[in-house]
Amino acid sequence: MKYRLSTAAGNLEGQPMFKVLAKVQELERQGRDIVHFEIGDPDFDTPPNIVNTACEALKNGDTHYTSSMGLHEFREAVRQTTSRTRGFTPSIDQVLVTPSANIIVYYAIRCLVNPGDEIIVPDPGFPSYYSAINFCGAVPVRVPLREENEFRMDPEDVRGRITDRTRMIILNSPQNPTGAVMTPEEIDRMAEIAEEHQVVLFSDEVYARMIFENRTAFRSPSTRDHCRKRTIVANGFSKAFAMTGWRLGVAIGPEDVIEKMGLLLQTTSSCVSPFIQRAGIEAILGDQTAVLAMMNEYRERRDLLVAGLNWIPGIRCLKPGGAIYVFPNISATGLSSEEFADHMLEKASVALLPGTNFGPGGKGFVRLCCAISKPRIEEGIRRIREAVANLEMKEKK
Ligand SMILES: Cc1ncc(COP(=O)(O)O)c(C=O)c1O
Repeated sequence: MKYRLSTAAGNLEGQPMFKVLAKVQELERQGRDIVHFEIGDPDFDTPPNIVNTACEALKNGDTHYTSSMGLHEFREAVRQTTSRTRGFTPSIDQVLVTPSANIIVYYAIRCLVNPGDEIIVPDPGFPSYYSAINFCGAVPVRVPLREENEFRMDPEDVRGRITDRTRMIILNSPQNPTGAVMTPEEIDRMAEIAEEHQVVLFSDEVYARMIFENRTAFRSPSTRDHCRKRTIVANGFSKAFAMTGWRLGVAIGPEDVIEKMGLLLQTTSSCVSPFIQRAGIEAILGDQTAVLAMMNEYRERRDLLVAGLNWIPGIRCLKPGGAIYVFPNISATGLSSEEFADHMLEKASVALLPGTNFGPGGKGFVRLCCAISKPRIEEGIRRIREAVANLEMKEKK
């Protein structure tokens, strides 16, 4: 025998959408014209002020190792921004600059949870949660997000799943894949429950700037304990600033947790590139015109996509309050989520994701991302409608 994989490696699942992306790219290589609703990657380029700042930093020699915790100026910028957006100012030692928001999930679980401990997690939810939980030998305890509750995580459902093994609750609002935005009251309730049961609240806020209706509606559970006792906020630059390829995030949490997460970062990747961090400072403190323009465009696309989907017999779609996704119910078409996604790719050249990629709670749903132009959305809707109509014809025969 050559070698044996570790149990942890055997538990790794990764993110299923990257597999779909590889399949789609293969079809494109064969000359197929695919409408891309699958991946959550903004089609906008990073705003020029951010790109120029990174270029200047590179030219100025910001190309060396730097502090593992992040540039002092960046952490100061995060303190200022947190004060403005969440109403409290964390100490500098509560702030860690990270190579993506995704990795904060892993850092936090690794530093706070032991094998066999339980983590409460939304279902459907961002696939990295499940993969990181399983990799660390912890146990995911799923909270179903119900369509009749507009996919908002219900604090009472969470409370009902707390046991003496629960160490962490993962909260994500606005949410991937459903776009659900929890009410400020629900968020406060979650913070109360975490406090009552002395468990860590991991608040994934990567879509915090992406709320459509009432921009002041965003509420973070961190406003309650100021990230000093049990709340860890994960934030990222990928979505709101169209910076998916830059790999930049920020974690805020209790000082001792952040210190350990910083050591884990140091152990695994040393530090985040300083020129990327300079761009991050410009993203949060610089001109926000492009960011607001992107949000307006996403709103229009969401409206177009939701209206288009609801016009197709057998599909019903709620209007999400935030993020860049819609999550229609396709069960009345008679196909499972996977069959629907496969059928759309094969017969209509439309790429979208089965809801079950996000957990068993996504059964009967698919996820579409609004990161393509309005004409392409219209084309995608037309193709889906036609493919669903062909299905019905077949059934009738
Ligand atoms: C809920 C959620 N958290 C975290 C991430 C990861 O973001 P990043 O690109 O910063 O790693 C994503 C990306 O899709 C997400 O949807």
